[in-house]
Amino acid sequence: MSVNPFLYGSIVGPENFCPRTRLQKRLSSLMRSGQNVAMAGPRRVGKSSLIHHTASSIRNATLVYADLWGVRTMSDFVRRCVQSLDAIADKATLLQKITNALPGLTVTLGVDPMTGNPTLSPTLAARRKAPPETVSQIARLWASLADGKRKIIVALDEFQDLAGMEDANQVLGVLRQEIQTLNKIPFCFCGSIRNEMWRLFATDGAPFYKSAAILEIAADDFDDWTGYLRKKFADSRIKIDDETLEQIIRLADGNPGDTQQLCAAVWEFAQTRSPRTISQEHAKQALLQVFADERKGYEQIIADISGQQLAVLRTIAQMGGESIQSAEFLGTAGITHASSAKAAATRLVSRRILQETSAGLKFSNPFFRNWLLHVRY
Ligand SMILES: Nc1ncnc2c1ncn2[C@@H]1O[C@H](COP(=O)(O)OP(=O)(O)OP(=O)(O)O)[C@@H](O)[C@H]1O
Ligand SMILES: [Mg+2]
Repeated sequence: MSVNPFLYGSIVGPENFCPRTRLQKRLSSLMRSGQNVAMAGPRRVGKSSLIHHTASSIRNATLVYADLWGVRTMSDFVRRCVQSLDAIADKATLLQKITNALPGLTVTLGVDPMTGNPTLSPTLAARRKAPPETVSQIARLWASLADGKRKIIVALDEFQDLAGMEDANQVLGVLRQEIQTLNKIPFCFCGSIRNEMWRLFATDGAPFYKSAAILEIAADDFDDWTGYLRKKFADSRIKIDDETLEQIIRLADGNPGDTQQLCAAVWEFAQTRSPRTISQEHAKQALLQVFADERKGYEQIIADISGQQLAVLRTIAQMGGESIQSAEFLGTAGITHASSAKAAATRLVSRRILQETSAGLKFSNPFFRNWLLHVRY
């Protein structure tokens, strides 16, 4: 039994990386010159994979990659930053540097049960709350790591979540100041929520205004995405025509991670066929399988939202989300006031069920949209 070649949901390694030459070149030249970069794009578009792949192509560079998803307090932030130092090989020196920079912190070495790699588990002295100035200690730690021949690239992923933590303004202010003095270290700020990233980096007066080059990652910015998918099917001796492949990409709204997820379901489906030829009808069967796998999560969303939010979701699924305050939209949704539709949409964006794009509001997850149309809730 061969292994499903389609991977989704995690960072793709070098052997599975579909080239994005334009983006790789741009990011690599920014990283090499020590320039900071703010990277924004929709969820599952390949931001994290691009950072890892590009950083690994730079000689003598070590990527320190912290995921800031959902950080609420300074202690969370410190913990995430210290955990991200797993990538540094010389653990003895590293522990010494951490102790020097962060005196209130105890770090224990452990082992990742899945990979067997050494891990760092930091614990902060619980007596008092870590103040915003603790950011300066983290900065000192980063500076101490970039010594001699070693080049450090610091990636702060889901960076927009810092704006939601306590004392956010102070934390961001100190961080900005510190980063300015660390001009040998390229920082890569990354975020899946476009508008929140914009608010931090591209609005006059914002804490990170003009402090980083902006790189937008679009879903279709690959050298040859369909060729990449076609080859994976061909290597598994599955016949699939171009129209079917296009349909799969369309059902996934062009999103790379979602496309690979649907391709994985198509691949599973093909294992039961002889000959292994896939048609558009089969692609729909595979989508039904994705619905079956994800149904619990979708139903949980429906259970958690208000009637008006559901009406807005349903109407966006049908009509698109370009003009949710238009008479036509409100009529279809059965909502009287434009302000109610707006408020419902804002809630759905903050819960990350919808995302703001240059073409209006969109479902973050295209399969959830298709499912909603399918079950007609
Ligand atoms: N270069 C690539 N080649 C092949 N597949 C890719 C590539 N980039 C992304 N993908 C697909 O998209 C999925 C998500 O990738 P990744 O985690 O890098 O995206 P992300 O934008 O960081 O997502 P998130 O919003 O969840 O943080 C991968 O698991 C893979 O299926
Ligand atoms: Mg990511």
